[in-house]
Amino acid sequence: MKNVENKVIIITGASSGIGEETAKLLAKNGAKIVLSARREDRLQCLASQLGENVVYLKSDVSNLDDMNALVALAKEKFGRVDVLFANAGVMPGGNMSELKVQDWMSMVDINIKGVLNSIAAVLPDFISQKSGHIVVTSSVAGTKSVPGNAVYAGTKHFVRAMLDSFRTESVLEGTNIRTTTIYPGAIKTELLNTIAPSKTKSMVEEFYKNVGLEPDVIANAVLYAVSQPDNVDVSDMVVRPSKEN
Ligand SMILES: NC(=O)c1ccc[n+]([C@@H]2O[C@H](COP(=O)([O-])OP(=O)(O)OC[C@H]3O[C@@H](n4cnc5c(N)ncnc54)[C@H](OP(=O)(O)O)[C@@H]3O)[C@@H](O)[C@H]2O)c1
Repeated sequence: MKNVENKVIIITGASSGIGEETAKLLAKNGAKIVLSARREDRLQCLASQLGENVVYLKSDVSNLDDMNALVALAKEKFGRVDVLFANAGVMPGGNMSELKVQDWMSMVDINIKGVLNSIAAVLPDFISQKSGHIVVTSSVAGTKSVPGNAVYAGTKHFVRAMLDSFRTESVLEGTNIRTTTIYPGAIKTELLNTIAPSKTKSMVEEFYKNVGLEPDVIANAVLYAVSQPDNVDVSDMVVRPSKEN
C-alpha cells in the first residue's frame, strides 16, 4: 500500500493481540517491521512466519536501554525508523480500595513509562530527519471514568494528554512528526489474562466473549493512519464494538 511500503515500523507489545495482528497487516502491506515484547518464543515464531523484512528483539518497554537497543536494531537492519507503534500495555484491574499497589506501579511502569521510553528512543532520529510518526494505544478507558479500573484509566488518560500536547509542540517546532492515539473498546486479546479471578473478571470476560471485536479492526485503524499522505495527521481514532457504550 502507498505510503506504507518500505516504511520501517517498530511495534511494542507485538507478541500477541493487537500488536501481533498489526505486525501481520503492516508486513503484508510491504512495511519493514521490528517486533518488541518480552516473550521471545512468540516473537521468533511471528517473525519466521512474516519473512525477511521482519526482525525482533526480546525487550521490556519499562527499560530505556532495551528501547534504545530496539532502535539500534532497526537502524542496523533497515537503516532508519519511520513509525513507532507504542502499544505494549497491561490491565490487571481492581478497585483502588483493594490497594493492589504493585499492580498500580506496574501499570505506571509499562503503560506510562514504557510509552515514554519508546518515544525517547525514536525521538532524536525523528527530530533530525524531520519526519516520523508515533502511534500509541490508549483505550476507551482513556476517554472517561472507569470504576474498577481507575489506575488503568489514568494511564490511558495520560497517553492521550501527553501525545496530543506533543503533537502541538511538533507543529510549533516544525519537526513534521505525526501522532495518532488509538482508543480501542473491547478487543478479544490476552489482555484480561492478568486480572485476578473475581466476579467482576467473569462479567468482563462474558462481555468480551459476546461483544468484543477481533484485533484486526485495530490493525486496520493503524494501517489507515500510517498510510495517509505526509501532510495528513490522523490524531485520534476511537474503535469500539457497536454494542459497547
Ligand atoms: N484488548 C482490549 O480490549 C484493549 C482495549 C483498549 C486498549 N487496549 C490496549 O491495547 C494494547 C495491547 O493490548 P492487547 O489487547 O493486544 O493485549 P495482549 O494480547 O495482552 O498484548 C499486550 C502486549 O503487551 C506486551 N507487554 C506487556 N508488558 C510488557 C513489557 N513490560 N515490555 C514489553 N512488552 C510488554 C505483551 O508482551 P509480553 O508479555 O510478551 O512482553 C503483549 O505483546 C495495550 O496497551 C492495551 O492496554 C486493549
